[in-house]
Amino acid sequence: MCGIVGAVAQREVSAILLEGLRRLEYRGYDSAGMAVISESTELNCLRRVGKVAALGEALDHHPLTGRTGIAHTRWATHGVPAEKNAHPHLSEDIALVHNGIIENHAELRERLTAKGYEFLSDTDTETIVHLIHSYYEQHRDLLNCVKLAISDLEGAYGLAVIHASQPDRLVCARKGSPLVIGVGIGENFIASDQLALRQVTDRFVYLEEGDVAEVTAGHYRIWDENNEPVSRELAIIDAKAESADKGEYRHFMLKEIYEQPSVIRRSLAGRLGSKTVLAEALGARANEILSQVENVQIVACGTSYHAGMVAKYWIEGIAGVPCRVEVASEFRYRKFKVHNNTLLVTISQSGETADTLAALRLAKTLGYSATMTICNVALSSLVRESDLFLMTEAGPEIGVASTKAFTTQLVALLLLTVALGRHHDLKAEQEQEIVAALHKLPQLITETLGLDSAIQQMSNAFAEKHHALFLGRGAQWPVAMEGALKLKEISYIHAESYPAGELKHGPLALIDADMPVIAVAPNDELLEKLKSNLEEVRARGGQLFVFADKNSGFSSANAVEILELPHTEDVIAPIVYTIPLQLLSYHVAILKGTDVDQPRNLAKSVTVE
Ligand code: AGP
Repeated sequence: MCGIVGAVAQREVSAILLEGLRRLEYRGYDSAGMAVISESTELNCLRRVGKVAALGEALDHHPLTGRTGIAHTRWATHGVPAEKNAHPHLSEDIALVHNGIIENHAELRERLTAKGYEFLSDTDTETIVHLIHSYYEQHRDLLNCVKLAISDLEGAYGLAVIHASQPDRLVCARKGSPLVIGVGIGENFIASDQLALRQVTDRFVYLEEGDVAEVTAGHYRIWDENNEPVSRELAIIDAKAESADKGEYRHFMLKEIYEQPSVIRRSLAGRLGSKTVLAEALGARANEILSQVENVQIVACGTSYHAGMVAKYWIEGIAGVPCRVEVASEFRYRKFKVHNNTLLVTISQSGETADTLAALRLAKTLGYSATMTICNVALSSLVRESDLFLMTEAGPEIGVASTKAFTTQLVALLLLTVALGRHHDLKAEQEQEIVAALHKLPQLITETLGLDSAIQQMSNAFAEKHHALFLGRGAQWPVAMEGALKLKEISYIHAESYPAGELKHGPLALIDADMPVIAVAPNDELLEKLKSNLEEVRARGGQLFVFADKNSGFSSANAVEILELPHTEDVIAPIVYTIPLQLLSYHVAILKGTDVDQPRNLAKSVTVE
């Protein structure tokens, strides 16, 4: 989704801005642009449709020189991907970049057109820059004009503005879309994601909802939503903890799949004793809050929603606590009753997903007893606005298709299940078994990754197909859902998932030789039921690919390909069985020649509704 970078320095900024954009590429975008104020106080701007590299080439031919500038990657919402719609947008000497959606843009456009402003794009963003310009005509001060303009806006924004006649500063503001100030020595930066600025600083100040900031090379000042000057905490982020390059791997996605044993180890470190989940694993206040919980409501989107679906089986089956799970975009607009003592749990890799954040904010008005987030990004909005947080230690996930974030979310959710279960149905022996299984998990994943070449071989059967069906039962059903999502998002093959018992209620009609059916089959209490369901597929000429426990008694036969996984305790099987499905979708995407790390039309962090 859209990305913002800005800089005010005592050196040339265009290379810094371009590198910042490059680091934001993983978020998904369709055009890029930059505006820089030159030494002779001219505002120069370049925009290109396509990749940041295309903007880089344009800059080689038409360099933008200057010490203050802003840049942007745009993911189209209002108006098609086109140069005229790319940011920055200009109004004479003012340039602006914007993330988010302005809901009253049509009304503002009408008002500004009546005043004589000519619109050159189809975007909602262009209204903001003209609005600021219209105030500048009277007030001649960029900071105040931005403050006045945002009071007219309805919707969400993270924005940054520069004015050619005030070349030593930029002004930025956030509401509903994240912004961070990167603090340097004699230079300061802003970005929508601190990753964009890791090449220039490790010191960050996160703006809060409603904040406006003025940034110069020597200082930054922040005002809160009531226009009171405020100071926000400075966070130092350890560069070693984060590595955002592909290393020896061809794609970030593959690297992130292979990182899973180590990031799961990191997620468990300090949280797992030899026989118990440590009391402090979920933070100092967790015990007090969880002891009151009688119900759980999980809210999330996409892959994170699938993690929530797995957790429902654990929280109800192991902890004995009723649990509901809902996608955030539905939850936030539905009428329902909140039961007493319900814990609201959001799950998110980015911590900035617009629907999940809106769901959390809504939940706070509805009488939930407490809120908790399971999140991968420290200091993200979900983390800052929740009562409790449990960080997944996956490190930066760059591939749009979520992999290591999912499995570390599952680990965190299992820890939550144990912590909750202690106040309900969980017995000490069960906790010991879960802890023992978690200790084995990284090694089991390493062994499962050893099946990579066999899975690569298997992927040949999918490259020419147009559809695929994923089946699982119990907690493996959401694993099948996640497998189908992975395949569709990176290989563009239509994939659906079903709890295998549902086959005969409709989807069986789809089965023929052109419909590969993938099943996840650990050796659990539903194995025999699953085998019967798979026989129904085989009897109708379906082509089966089964990921099965080595003790599950499957054998390869005509139209049945079995790939054996190491034996896994039931409780952690959803985590282990996710791995082959990730590898399968990766290899199919490679055969199809798609853009694995940045699949078409998708964004890494969906910060608009
Ligand atoms: C999964 O591969 C996708 N990238 C997507 O479904 C993602 O999980 C969803 O947009 C939610 O994002 P979040 O975890 O950052 O909130």
